Amino acid sequence: MRVLVTGGTGYIGSTAVEMLLNQGFDISILDDCSMGHADTVPAGVRFIQGSLLNSDEVADSLADCQVVMHFAGKSLVGESVKQPDLYHLVNVGGTRILLDEMRKQSISKLVFSSSAATYGEPEVLPILETSPTNPTNPYGATKLAIDQMITSEAAAHGLSAASLRYFNVAGAIKTDRGWLAERHNPETHLIPNVLRSTTENPVKIFGTDWPTADGTCIRDYVHVIDLIDAHVKALHSLKDSAHEIYNLGSGSGYSVREVVAAANTAIGHQIPSIDTARRAGDPAVLIADISKAKARLDWEPTRDLNTMVSDTLKSMA
Ligand code: UFG
Repeated sequence: MRVLVTGGTGYIGSTAVEMLLNQGFDISILDDCSMGHADTVPAGVRFIQGSLLNSDEVADSLADCQVVMHFAGKSLVGESVKQPDLYHLVNVGGTRILLDEMRKQSISKLVFSSSAATYGEPEVLPILETSPTNPTNPYGATKLAIDQMITSEAAAHGLSAASLRYFNVAGAIKTDRGWLAERHNPETHLIPNVLRSTTENPVKIFGTDWPTADGTCIRDYVHVIDLIDAHVKALHSLKDSAHEIYNLGSGSGYSVREVVAAANTAIGHQIPSIDTARRAGDPAVLIADISKAKARLDWEPTRDLNTMVSDTLKSMA
């Protein structure tokens, strides 16, 4: 079976390529490398360096594929607030082109990278797939718009799809070619920032006055390998003309200070940090209810926060 992995040179997409190859899938990648890195592409993979916004390149990349795993898209919350038009164009417009080209080539299976950002500030914790969706930034709004577009496509044209709503993805994967890990510039995510912290440039703790036990935000972290395991299970579970949505997290929350403590243990000394003001747009607590993925996909994450931190540290060595 040949899978088109859009965004297959990014952090999560390249991990998917690695794991799918190891499971015997044939792979094509479509990526413009605006965030990803062409040097992650393994030998034997068909790589189209092109854009989701170019229907000829999308059509070409779909050749001989039976399934699409769709990771490509803009994914920085702060950037989306400043450039909502860009986010709508690339995420929503790009996915529209992808769905149209899939239909022309009679490709009817899709696994999509959605986000917990579709929910916004939760009213009830943990967050269920049926919880209200009130995104608080354009990034989350585009992921929700795409989820809704996929639901319509399934009903009208027989697409079989799964939207996977990621909580906080972390960790790294070791391959024959070295580690695949987050390589963002600038890096905004907590775990790599904590591990890179120095006395001269200490990691900032965004807010210590949140309504949580230690005053810092709580997030639900899931290892990127567990996350991709869920994608493969979702692919095998696709049902004709149905669109299912699944939360992917661990079901547990850790505060920013708890993440720093885990990093202190991994690194073997006290990591410098500085308490600063809250970051705009951050919800206080995000924790997933993952019972649907457990029951329907027979999936459960097996790698804990310490593993996510230590794998990230190893990838930086
Ligand atoms: N944080 C810091 N200092 C930093 C970086 C982050 O204190 O240098 C804090 C943030 O304020 C937040 C927590 O650490 O409370 C996690 O922040 P991340 O930036 O690592 O992740 P987010 O929770 O902001 O966002 C992630 C994805 C989004 C997705 C969201 C959904 O990056 O794409 O999860 O839960 F929308």
